[in-house]
Amino acid sequence: MPSFRAPRGTRDLLPDVWAGFSRLEGLARSLAARYGYREMEIPLFEQTAVFERGIGVATDVVEKELFRIVQRTEDSESWALRPEATAGMVRAYVQHGMQTLPAPVKLSVIGPMFRYDRPQAGRYRQFWQWTAEAIGDPGPAVDAEVIEMGLRFYAEAGVPDVEILLNSIGDAACRPAYLAKLKAYFARHEVQLPVLERRRLETNPLRLLDSKDPAMTALAGGAPKITDSWCEACTAHFAAVRAHLDALGVPYRLEPTLVRGLDYYARTAFEFYRKGAEGQQEALGGGGRYDGLVELLGGRPAPAIGFGLGLDRVLLALDETGVASRHEAPPLAVVVGADPADTVSRLRVASLLRAEGLSVRAELAQRKLARQLETASKEHAHFAVIIGDELAEGHVQLKDLEAGTQRVVPLADLARELARAAKSHHHG
Ligand code: HAM
Repeated sequence: MPSFRAPRGTRDLLPDVWAGFSRLEGLARSLAARYGYREMEIPLFEQTAVFERGIGVATDVVEKELFRIVQRTEDSESWALRPEATAGMVRAYVQHGMQTLPAPVKLSVIGPMFRYDRPQAGRYRQFWQWTAEAIGDPGPAVDAEVIEMGLRFYAEAGVPDVEILLNSIGDAACRPAYLAKLKAYFARHEVQLPVLERRRLETNPLRLLDSKDPAMTALAGGAPKITDSWCEACTAHFAAVRAHLDALGVPYRLEPTLVRGLDYYARTAFEFYRKGAEGQQEALGGGGRYDGLVELLGGRPAPAIGFGLGLDRVLLALDETGVASRHEAPPLAVVVGADPADTVSRLRVASLLRAEGLSVRAELAQRKLARQLETASKEHAHFAVIIGDELAEGHVQLKDLEAGTQRVVPLADLARELARAAKSHHHG
């Protein structure tokens, strides 16, 4: 047993697994570029108040799952690790006066988030999200555009059967009347409510609908639906979002009970699931409109919408469906030598090739040439660069390990020869 282990709820993403993450990050970057979202990064921690005010005090994410940093006596602020990126991105948008940029301001963040949750399959204390936000557009067209971009991410990542669950959770005009109905309903069942839910009945009744407590499932199922309380403007907005999705050919399922777990949402709310996996497994991603958040964090009011897609869960889904993650390519060439002791020459030649952008390994073990070549073949390198006596005249032997051929090449031409071979053989 090793004395130290990665903290509970975290994982070491070893090279084979990280290669899968990298691929997803690359895909997120490519989609962000295609859809006009500019990548940025924000601190991994913020003033706790950014999350408390943005996400809401009486939410699981803030009340139970926030990684709070112990406050030093000399600090007047308290900080917490980011449980998501939206609040921080909006804080940055306000801080840097991005309201003056042409709207919508479309931003993308890819990176780790932290939630002190109970670890289980697909639920970690450090996990990775791709977050995309479009700030300054009231929709409805941009709503459909964001949702379609999310679905395309899963399609291009290779996750089959991803379903969109869609709802509107009303706005400042119609939500208060709905919350009153909701409160009255749950108040009638107060004795059945778990302690936390009973408290939230007063502070944040909407949260009773996305409670993780199994005792709440049936009760929440019988609650009044927000869809019956929409005002005219919310009804029209939702219909227009649907019309845009229909026109794009994006399929979705209406889910009148979907409310999401963060307080900043208004109107459009959506989640991505593996088909048939709702309930047993958590969402692959989710998002929605948050028209009040910019103002809440001190900015001039601006409507906004976005999503957060969980990369860990996408990789799990890919593992389950057997879509193999791609491994790194072998080196194009291994530099070996007739004189086992002459590591200097092998390093020098490798360094020269790497400077030309080639992926090359230098054999630094002082073993017989035959053994060096054996290792190079085993790792599926295409070429061996063999250094021998000809180096004095500025030549090396270039052995094609796949074809079994060998010829003398001037050192000055070596990089060019290898680069040409790399191109014609599609290495990687
Ligand atoms: P969220 O629904 O809290 O939304 O998280 C989005 C996604 O992050 C989830 O659907 C899930 O895939 C992943 N996720 C969340 N918690 C964990 C965990 N403990 N372990 C593994 N994966 C997890 C947000 O975070 C919003 N900021 C999304 C958004 C952006 N809304 C508007 N803009």
